[in-house]
Amino acid sequence: MASAANGGGHSGRLPRKRFYRARAHSNPLSDSHFPVPLRPSDVDYAQHYPSFFPATSSPKIRFADIGCGFGGLLVKLSPLFPDTLMIGMELRDKVTEFVKERILALRAANPGQYKNISVVRSNAMKYLPNYFEKGQLEKMFFLFPDPHFKEKNHRRRVISSHLLDEYAYALAPGGTLYAATDVEELGEWMSACLEAHPLFRACSDEEVAADPVAALLCSATEEAQKVARNGGQTYRAIYRRIPRQ
Ligand SMILES: C[S@@+](CC[C@H](N)C(=O)[O-])C[C@H]1O[C@@H](n2cnc3c(N)ncnc32)[C@H](O)[C@@H]1O
Repeated sequence: MASAANGGGHSGRLPRKRFYRARAHSNPLSDSHFPVPLRPSDVDYAQHYPSFFPATSSPKIRFADIGCGFGGLLVKLSPLFPDTLMIGMELRDKVTEFVKERILALRAANPGQYKNISVVRSNAMKYLPNYFEKGQLEKMFFLFPDPHFKEKNHRRRVISSHLLDEYAYALAPGGTLYAATDVEELGEWMSACLEAHPLFRACSDEEVAADPVAALLCSATEEAQKVARNGGQTYRAIYRRIPRQ
């Protein structure tokens, strides 16, 4: 599986977006060609997180940023949870390459830091169970996903009733799903899907206020910053995975 390596020998110079021009969108329903692990135990952790492996405790990935784009959230979360392994899943190859380079540069320029984040090119709508065991994840992020406005394209949306079954499978009971968008209609759609799902409940205002990660949703990613610059509004949905009754 493609991965960010340990940064040894890297110049530490951050990549520039203009050298990673990518198509604006990729169709998540079409077939792409990239390697996919057959099962979560085939994920090459040592390649992604070389400083953590080999390890006696065999830590697992606990946070997943779905559609991570240019990786801003991972970079912000990394120092806040230095012992937690996190991965970004990104469909576009050039964007994934950019994030890999960004992580390598950060590791090289800041020895001992950013060793807990990595990225993989994959289609999270198709291959999530290939990466994560049941209940493995503590947090999943869906920040500023593509809105797919036309009704015939709603099935391309990364949050839907049937995909929430998979996210509920990968999340541990008590784990948190964070979604954010600047598109009001998509915000309502995501909240409605989550509200109707028997394995999720909305976090209370008190829970959201006490969660330092919730505050990052409107500022950490490249899309969030664009929305903020343009004076747009962000709609958040923060839900807890509840145990089966
Ligand atoms: C609008 S961008 C938001 C990126 C980032 N979350 C942010 O807030 O800056 C949506 C990203 O999701 C990626 N994406 C769309 N469908 C995906 C899928 N099925 N699996 C993985 N990534 C996907 C796109 O390639 C794109 O980079």
